[in-house]
Amino acid sequence: MEGYQSAEFKKSMKIRLNYNNMMTRFVGEKGISEEEITAIKDQIEAAKKAMVKKRAEGGMDWRDLPYNQNEVVRDIIDYANSVKDQFDAFVVLGIGGSALGPIAVQQAINHPLYNELPREKRGGWPKFYVADNVDPERLSCLFDVIDPAKTLFNVISKSGGTSETMSQFMIIKEMLEEKLGKEETAKHIVCTTDGVKGNLRPICAKEGYKSFVIPAGVGGRFSEMTPVGLLPAAMTGIDIKAFLAGAAYMDELSQNDNERENIAYMYAILSYIAMKQGKNIHVMMPYADSLKYISDWFAQLWAESLGKKFHLDGTVAHAGQTPVKAVGVTDQHSQVQLYAEGPYDKMVVFLGVDKYRRSITIPKIYSEIPSLGFLGGVTQNALIQTEQVATEYNLLKSGKPNMEITLPEVNEFTLGELLYMFEVATGFAGELLQVNAFDQPGVEAGKNATYAMFGRPGYEAVKEELDNRPQPEKAYII
Ligand code: PA5
Repeated sequence: MEGYQSAEFKKSMKIRLNYNNMMTRFVGEKGISEEEITAIKDQIEAAKKAMVKKRAEGGMDWRDLPYNQNEVVRDIIDYANSVKDQFDAFVVLGIGGSALGPIAVQQAINHPLYNELPREKRGGWPKFYVADNVDPERLSCLFDVIDPAKTLFNVISKSGGTSETMSQFMIIKEMLEEKLGKEETAKHIVCTTDGVKGNLRPICAKEGYKSFVIPAGVGGRFSEMTPVGLLPAAMTGIDIKAFLAGAAYMDELSQNDNERENIAYMYAILSYIAMKQGKNIHVMMPYADSLKYISDWFAQLWAESLGKKFHLDGTVAHAGQTPVKAVGVTDQHSQVQLYAEGPYDKMVVFLGVDKYRRSITIPKIYSEIPSLGFLGGVTQNALIQTEQVATEYNLLKSGKPNMEITLPEVNEFTLGELLYMFEVATGFAGELLQVNAFDQPGVEAGKNATYAMFGRPGYEAVKEELDNRPQPEKAYII
């Protein structure tokens, strides 16, 4: 990308939040009033202070990622350029925070049918796949379309202990070694993991695998701007410097102490009040296919960060808001019926785009059929944008609070802004809810139960607990 350092460019690419339709003045009694915002003034002030303090004390290392990775970025770009021509495919082995970001960014920036393009139209970069499940069908089917001898596998795991990722790694390592021998295999595996802890780090050292470091203080779902996301992005030709520059710009904007000028803070404040009102569902509806996987990435961020049993002071919270993914316009023909007429238990966030990267005009045919003729000469761009406005109006008329985030266009810079904004909003919402947005005991519990059931040493107590769980009754199995 060119020119993203200039102040003019930044201003022209600033993402916007329009929350008129969240406010009672517009959406009616189920919305949010100015009084409700004023009523939590002290909480907002305390949250602002906590954000600054936590950052200063090193409790939010992900906030510095746009600035402190010059060397890492150089290493990633050099590595990507050096291996680019050697491989036909690049496969990420990872799950959760080690997969959702790479998927979202690749889908947003690159051609929607990237893998189907001829290599030269991919800028010479390899095809891109993510194996983020242990479904045996999916993994073995991947081998029907890739040649492992021409594939680079990126094992991404912060802990280096996640069964799903490590089992994939073990399968692939053995397969590669049988086919290519040990020495050659080492050139086909690159790891992204903690700098010190976990199984993967010593494995890399022993096997001679190239590796990148996930900084210790950055948790999985906040790691897209570390090598977790940067290496897969660079391996498909994405400009990671522009991506980080967008994040840095949003960091600057989200340090604004006036919440009315701070998108991330307002996003959190409105969501928090909606939660207090019992709106426990947070729908994200991008009006762009390129942004549809952002909803999946956001779902993990919002759910895993805010879905907590306890407050910071140890009292019971059972906090959180369930993220739901919808796609505009596709889901206008399914979920929107519920959003318009169903219960007042949700808020809807639209993701819109000012300028799509392509334009298609509908031909002026069938002008004699009024119900089709009106489309003649209209661009699909205008159609999708108009349908977004129409859906927002539909919800507004039904008294259903909704807001929109608009990207001037989808590119590396605006995507960096968007993801960083969501991360700050999540941290801020955690402060308002008074929960720890940066741990995930519920996820760890599931991992531990799996380890215990497979008899992993160190998990005997969990195994015993599991073995003594109530057994299913036949009467309830039909
Ligand atoms: O956000 C998180 O911490 C989790 O979703 C992790 O990213 C996920 O469980 C994968 O963990 P790891 O990267 O350690 O393999």
